[in-house]
Amino acid sequence: MQIKPIHQKIFEKAKPFLRTRKNLIHTRIALRYALELLQSDQGDEDIVIPAVLLHDVGWKTIPEELHLTAFGPNPSNPKLAKVHEIEGAKMAEAILSKHQYPPKKVKEICQIIRGHDTRKRAISADDRIVKDADKLWRYSRKGMAIDLERFNVKPAPYLDYLEKVINQWFLTSTAREIAKKEIQKRRTQHFIHIICK
Ligand SMILES: [Fe+2]
Ligand SMILES: [Fe+2]
Repeated sequence: MQIKPIHQKIFEKAKPFLRTRKNLIHTRIALRYALELLQSDQGDEDIVIPAVLLHDVGWKTIPEELHLTAFGPNPSNPKLAKVHEIEGAKMAEAILSKHQYPPKKVKEICQIIRGHDTRKRAISADDRIVKDADKLWRYSRKGMAIDLERFNVKPAPYLDYLEKVINQWFLTSTAREIAKKEIQKRRTQHFIHIICK
């Protein structure tokens, strides 16, 4: 997976803030999907890639034991989702400005981060890609394994749920196709796991 040297530098600065819960692995996987989406969907990689790398740095400002109260099937403290967006946008601005990133791009990246979870509609084509890459993580092998444990759910019904929400969650048709393919792969893996037990 190749990203520009400037984006790699930004990622290095983001990493200390992503070492909380599973955010570093989440970001790596979301990055992989963002790069895949950029191959077929129009987007500015100088906006999309930094936005993906920095979108969840704000979680570092919230005690880890409270993270799971902010999202998932039954969030008891959904306001925290907004906090990680606002704090994350401030941190992203500081990191990007230190790297003399173009101010116009910094502004757009921070706008995306400020609503990446709570704003359901996308404000631009770049935002659409960031939102879809962020959610595709749940369909990845690692992301799904983490969520099964985190939410204490069984693979078969969870896969049915992930399949049902595809049209509602994803904003690009490319992401919908990727999600469907991932579901097939996860079902095959689950089936192999059952027969090999
Ligand atoms: Fe987030
Ligand atoms: Fe995320």
